[in-house]
Amino acid sequence: MKVFLKTYGCQMNERDSEIIISMMMQEGYTSVQSYEEASLIIFNTCSVRKHAEDRVWGKLAELKRLKIDRNDIVIGLVGCMGKAYGKEIFKKLVHVDFVCGPANIYDIPSLVDRVISGENHITAIKKTKRPIKKEGTLHSSGPIRAFVNITEGCDNFCSYCIVPYVRGREISRPQKDIIDEIKQLVDNGAKEVTLLGQNVNSYGKDKDFIKLLEKTNKIEGLKRIRFMTSHPKDAGIRLFKAMAGLDKVCEHLHLPMQSGSGRILKLMNRGYTSSHYLELIDDMRKAVPDCAITTDIIVGFPSESEKDFKDTYEIMKRIEFDSAFIFKYSPRPFTKASQMDDDVSMEAKKERNQVLLHLQDEISRKKHELLIGKTENVLGLSVAKKKPDSSSNLSATYIKTRTRKNYQLVCKGDKQLIGTIFDVKVKDVQGNTLIGNIV
Ligand code: SAH
Ligand code: SF4
Ligand code: F3S
Repeated sequence: MKVFLKTYGCQMNERDSEIIISMMMQEGYTSVQSYEEASLIIFNTCSVRKHAEDRVWGKLAELKRLKIDRNDIVIGLVGCMGKAYGKEIFKKLVHVDFVCGPANIYDIPSLVDRVISGENHITAIKKTKRPIKKEGTLHSSGPIRAFVNITEGCDNFCSYCIVPYVRGREISRPQKDIIDEIKQLVDNGAKEVTLLGQNVNSYGKDKDFIKLLEKTNKIEGLKRIRFMTSHPKDAGIRLFKAMAGLDKVCEHLHLPMQSGSGRILKLMNRGYTSSHYLELIDDMRKAVPDCAITTDIIVGFPSESEKDFKDTYEIMKRIEFDSAFIFKYSPRPFTKASQMDDDVSMEAKKERNQVLLHLQDEISRKKHELLIGKTENVLGLSVAKKKPDSSSNLSATYIKTRTRKNYQLVCKGDKQLIGTIFDVKVKDVQGNTLIGNIV
């Protein structure tokens, strides 16, 4: 019994895929890297942009032939598209056997069993909340960096975003469960955890994310803490001071800005102004001067004018993010913005996207180059498949690492360095990768 699982979307989905694979392994499956080998094929899907969905529709359509030739395979579509489209999926893709939403993830083994016993076109999409007590036990064995969910769902209803509709209302896991899970991970060799939530700053009834960070920081054997995503309306000086004071919390803040235009931010229902965003960046840089700040931007939101776009451009130029994900607006089912006229042409969206990508490339290159000559503290992750171009010794082993600011860094070194923390002096940059020597 072999399972092939393909994951689309965000870290939440990556974490969910880990849960799914672990569950199926408990059922006796082994995980394989190509669908041709598999008797069970699962697509864990994302609905955040139409493009993400189109890739899934296309890939799954390709499997129709396979299903005709080999009737014994089971095909499931799970995750956010499952919740968004439910039974509709079978109309487009008759060869899919079951559909499951994110909150019903723990039903997957029984859905597979039901299909094997002869049922077809079954759905599990009704739940709106995860059985929170179940969370936390299923991890793949011995990851160096692990994802840990702290909240599920989202209550923010940004006007463009489908996430609250497919992931449901926000719920926080009990602090004790999270801490126990991290301790367990550390016992199994984890050195770094990333605390995951759509808006980690709203964790807990009393907004006690900082307390959670403090508790996590005390876990013995854990070396690094990251978290995402922070929301500008809920992040502030208390968080930045905590980041400065807690030694394991890495100097990286992902703070999606979405737009630099106050008018567009309002239409997006983001709950902050661009000047508030700028103040946050200033406060962050005061609290943690050498900190990486990354962001998400959407171009071409309904009614975005050249002037609105220029505001985004200028603010990005002024802030100089370490990196930025830049997306073209895509109208999504259920959302408020989908009722607005999607009036920025695809051409303009593409052009604005290109302009910002180009600007960010220049800034990112500059930021990388500024690190040449500096010593960075890194965590060894794996053997690098691709050696640096400058490498003259073809038999040497190179290790892929991450700096505390989450820059990728490759250096010559022994496999034993994997899972350890060490210092590297940066000597070069290739693309988005720093190259260095161990000091
Ligand atoms: N909870 C996080 C991330 C949510 S999804 C946050 O609040 O930032 C990740 C990113 O996808 C968002 O930050 C946004 O930039 C982008 N995104 C979401 N909906 C989109 C849409 N309809 N069109 C284009 N980009 C979108
Ligand atoms: Fe979507 Fe906004 Fe929630 Fe992020 S905070 S998941 S963008 S609704
Ligand atoms: Fe994540 Fe995509 Fe769902 S971004 S929450 S997998 S819609």
